[in-house]
Amino acid sequence: MRILVTRAWPEPVERALAERFDVVLNRSDQPMDQAELARAMDEFDVLCPTVSDRIDAEVIAGGNRVKLIANYGVGFDHIDLEAARAKGIAVSNTPGVLTDATADLGMTLLLMAARRAGEGERELRAGKWSGWRPTHLIGSSLKGKVLGLVGFGRIGIAMAQRAHHGFGMRIAYHGRREAEPAVVEELGAAYYPSLEGLLGASDVVSLHVPGGAETARLMDAGRLAAMKPGSFLINTARGSVIDHEALAAALRSGHLAGAGLDVYPQEPQVPESLLALENVVLLPHLGSADADTRMAMGMKALANVEAFARGEPLPDRIA
Ligand code: 8YV
Repeated sequence: MRILVTRAWPEPVERALAERFDVVLNRSDQPMDQAELARAMDEFDVLCPTVSDRIDAEVIAGGNRVKLIANYGVGFDHIDLEAARAKGIAVSNTPGVLTDATADLGMTLLLMAARRAGEGERELRAGKWSGWRPTHLIGSSLKGKVLGLVGFGRIGIAMAQRAHHGFGMRIAYHGRREAEPAVVEELGAAYYPSLEGLLGASDVVSLHVPGGAETARLMDAGRLAAMKPGSFLINTARGSVIDHEALAAALRSGHLAGAGLDVYPQEPQVPESLLALENVVLLPHLGSADADTRMAMGMKALANVEAFARGEPLPDRIA
C-alpha cells in the first residue's frame, strides 16, 4: 500500500509507518499545492493530510486510487466529506487524544487575556517597563466569574473542568442538548438553550464548536454585541466561527475587554485589524502542540491506516 504523508509528523510515527508501508514523507515540510494534492489522488492508496491541506472536491476529483483519507487532527472542515463519500473514499480523524492539550491552551489564552500577559511581555521586551506600581496593567479576576462554553463536547467539558476546579469559575454552556447529568452535577453547569442567553450571562465566552458551513460567522456583530460589556472571547475551535472585523470593532470600542485566539479563517494569515490591537492574544494554532499529544495523534492516524490495510472497520471513521 502506498501512503502519502503531506507534512512532517513526529519522527517515531513516521518510522512506524515506514516499517509497515511504502510511505512518501514530506522531508522539507513545505505545504503541497492543490495541483500536487490532486495528482496524489492517482498515485497513492492512502492520503494523510492535516488542517493545512485543503482537500476540496477538485482535489478529490484528481484521481481514483486513494481509498482512505486518514486526517492528522480531530477537526475535518478542510476535507469535503460529501465529495469523499460520493467516490467511496473513507475518511478518519484523531478524536480524544488532543482534548487535554486543547483545553490547556484554551486556559492559556483565557489567563493571558484576563491578566494581560501578552501586553506585559511586549512592554517588557520593548524596554518600556518603568517599574512596579499599584495601577500597572490591571487585569480581571476569574474566581466566581461565569465561563460560557459554546459547544460542550469533549474539549468544552475539559476546559470547563479546568476553569471550575482550578480557578473557581462558574460554568454555563450552550449546545444542541443538555450534557450528561454526571457532568452537569460535577460542574454545577447551567444550560442555556439559546446562544444569545449564554452570551449575555457570561464573563468569558469560549468557543468549542466544529468549523464548517453550519457555524460560519456564528459570532457575528450581533452576537458580539449580545456579549456582556467588559467580557472576553476565547477561540480554540476554528477561525471561520468568528467575524474578525466585527471582533476587532468590539475590542476597539471597549465593549469586549479582550480576546484570545488560536485559529484564523485563512491560516497562516492573521487579520491586520487584530494585529493592530493590544487587547487580543494571538497564538499560531498551537491547540494540540505538545509532544505527547502530537505523538498520540500520529499513532491514532496510524491505527486507522492499519485497520484499513487489514480490511477491518476504522476506529475513527467520519465518512
Ligand atoms: C491540529 C486541530 O493540530 O486537530 C485539530 O482539529 O485543530 C489541531 O489541533 C490540526 O488540526 C492538525 O491537522
